[in-house]
Amino acid sequence: MSGRKTTPASNLANSLSGSAIGAATTQAKGQIMNIVVIGGTGLIGSKLVSKLTERGHRAIAASPETGVNALTGAGLAEALDGADVVIDVSNSPSFEDAAAMEFFKSATGNLLAAEDAFNVKHHVALSVVGTERLQQSGYFRAKLEQERLIRESGIPFTIVRATQFYEFLGRITDAATVDGTVRLPPVFIQPMAADEVAQGVGRASVGAPFNGIVEIAGPQRYRLDELVRSALAKKGDPREVVTDPHAPYFGVVAMDEDVLLPSDGARIAEIKLADWVTRNTRPTPTPAPEEAQVVSGG
Ligand SMILES: NC(=O)c1ccc[n+]([C@@H]2O[C@H](COP(=O)([O-])OP(=O)(O)OC[C@H]3O[C@@H](n4cnc5c(N)ncnc54)[C@H](OP(=O)(O)O)[C@@H]3O)[C@@H](O)[C@H]2O)c1
Repeated sequence: MSGRKTTPASNLANSLSGSAIGAATTQAKGQIMNIVVIGGTGLIGSKLVSKLTERGHRAIAASPETGVNALTGAGLAEALDGADVVIDVSNSPSFEDAAAMEFFKSATGNLLAAEDAFNVKHHVALSVVGTERLQQSGYFRAKLEQERLIRESGIPFTIVRATQFYEFLGRITDAATVDGTVRLPPVFIQPMAADEVAQGVGRASVGAPFNGIVEIAGPQRYRLDELVRSALAKKGDPREVVTDPHAPYFGVVAMDEDVLLPSDGARIAEIKLADWVTRNTRPTPTPAPEEAQVVSGG
């Protein structure tokens, strides 16, 4: 590493200023940037590549599918040569403790070393709101290690922490299912659409490095158990949801009820869950889970 210095962020203030997450302004208005999206074939990555391309930037999807492997380093030099910004929205193929740690540690290390060699001006990474409070989980220990490597790299950076994606609620449900019963703690959750996660990350990537963490979150707050119960009922899924304060959430037990919630300064997204469900249900729209009580939000 070259030892390039960055200015530490003084606070978690909202650097993504503007009236909406999608209303991005480029660092120098009209400047076309070369942006490499590691994990650019994934859920968030593919949306990011489209959005950045639509805005006139040269965005490249880099992942094993396109011949770039951050874990082994294969193809990284070719991909990063000439990049202004690298966005890392890759994910570990396995959530198992050791595999996740190996993935985020090695892939992030390889990426940052390559960025240093090619004088990349901004590293942007997607992480999870509450990561430091979820350290019973190997996956979240790996995410915190990813954040630490970025902070200590000397490369100007922005870490965007998002709450759970609406698209991820099914995986949360499946992970909590044993013998057809879903056990979930009654913790608060403030999920958001992957589209707006991509907008938030894209916005950060074309702005100046924040050298700290910015948070983005959904517009409405729910109880996790109630939300899943309601969604399953609406879909006709027969699984019973049992409220259990000690049920694990990806290995984290006895969670405080606000562990998944964003800080006060978080930028709040606009797409509500009910609208997202309507938009994403084809061809016969399933009624939105209106019965899940919105604890706060419009
Ligand atoms: N799920 C949530 O609710 C949530 C909330 C906040 C933050 N996040 C964070 O969001 C990030 C992205 O999640 P996602 O759901 O968009 O992921 P995803 O759809 O599973 O996509 C993962 C991407 O990573 C790529 N990848 C896997 N191994 C790689 C490697 N060795 N080198 C380079 N790329 C590799 C995949 O490429 P291939 O297609 O080629 O395999 C794919 O493009 C994650 O870091 C996660 O921690 C998630």
